[in-house]
Amino acid sequence: MRVLVTGGLGFIGSHTVVALLENGYDVTVIDNLYNSKLVVKDRIKEITNKDFKTVIADVQDEKALDEIFKDKIDAVINFAGYKAVGESVKKPLEYYDNNLTLTFALLKKMREYGCHNFVFSSSATVYGNPERVPMYETDPVTDATSPYGETKVMIERILKDIAAVTPDFNCALLRYFNPIGAHKSGLLGEDPNGIPNNLLPYIAKVATGELKEVNVFGNDYDTPDGTGVRDYIHVVDLAKGHVLALKKLEQNPGLVIYNLGTGKGTSVLEMIHDYEEATGVKIPYVIKPRRAGDIATSYANCDKAAKELGFHCDYTVLDACRDGYHFQVEEAKRKKEGK
Ligand code: WQD
Repeated sequence: MRVLVTGGLGFIGSHTVVALLENGYDVTVIDNLYNSKLVVKDRIKEITNKDFKTVIADVQDEKALDEIFKDKIDAVINFAGYKAVGESVKKPLEYYDNNLTLTFALLKKMREYGCHNFVFSSSATVYGNPERVPMYETDPVTDATSPYGETKVMIERILKDIAAVTPDFNCALLRYFNPIGAHKSGLLGEDPNGIPNNLLPYIAKVATGELKEVNVFGNDYDTPDGTGVRDYIHVVDLAKGHVLALKKLEQNPGLVIYNLGTGKGTSVLEMIHDYEEATGVKIPYVIKPRRAGDIATSYANCDKAAKELGFHCDYTVLDACRDGYHFQVEEAKRKKEGK
């Protein structure tokens, strides 16, 4: 079975390609290197000792898609898209244009070549500021708190409308909570360009000395210690969830929706403490005002994925802190050696 992975050299995409190869799938990756590096291709091969097809192009490049779909593509997992929440607030047109247009191009090409299985990288942001926690898949999808989140809401809506009138179309909407950590080899991980927006990559750069201290955005939320609570899932567990979702689509379920999280919330201060415990590195921090658009608490109910996919997390937040730090240290060494 051949799977096309768009954005397959990115953070979550690369870990998912590893999981697919390790589970015997043939893989084609398309990636425009907007938020990834070509060297990741070699690292995936080093980890899995397996080869796979890589096309360096934009998903909107129709010639590239025709070249890819000449091989029989049995399923598509779509990671490609802009994903920086803060940037999306400043550049809404670019976010709506890029994320929606590439999805349209992909879905039309799938229809042209008779590919009926689609896994969509959705997000907990579709729940907006939730009425209740933990969040369930049946909870209302409301106004997301950013144009980035809105693109996820809109694409979910589009996929639901397509599935409603396309009997042989199978689609899994995977709502990720907060992906963190790295592959235990230290070869794959999250390495955003510039100053990280997300908490864990920021903590990692404080740990390696590239940044001075963590800015804790608010300690006056209605949470046990006043700081924001999130559901942090190890990226390797998240990748496994995609393989399980693909297996589910083989049963022709139509459109299915799953939360992929741990079912547990961790506050910012707890995360800093866990990171120190996992790595032995002191993480200085300073309390700052709240960040616009942040919500107090977000964590998943994952019973549905457990029951219908057999999904469960093998790794803890401490494992993710340890693996994420290991990647940062190894990446710093590689950069110093010019690799
Ligand atoms: C986590 C917590 C911050 C940075 C985002 C996207 C979401 C998903 C995951 C893709 C919050 C606090 C953060 C910092 C801090 N991505 N924080 N200092 O905002 O929950 O979700 O990433 O789907 O779509 O919105 O993640 O890591 O930015 O923040 O105090 O320097 O850490 O306030 O409570 P977030 P995050």
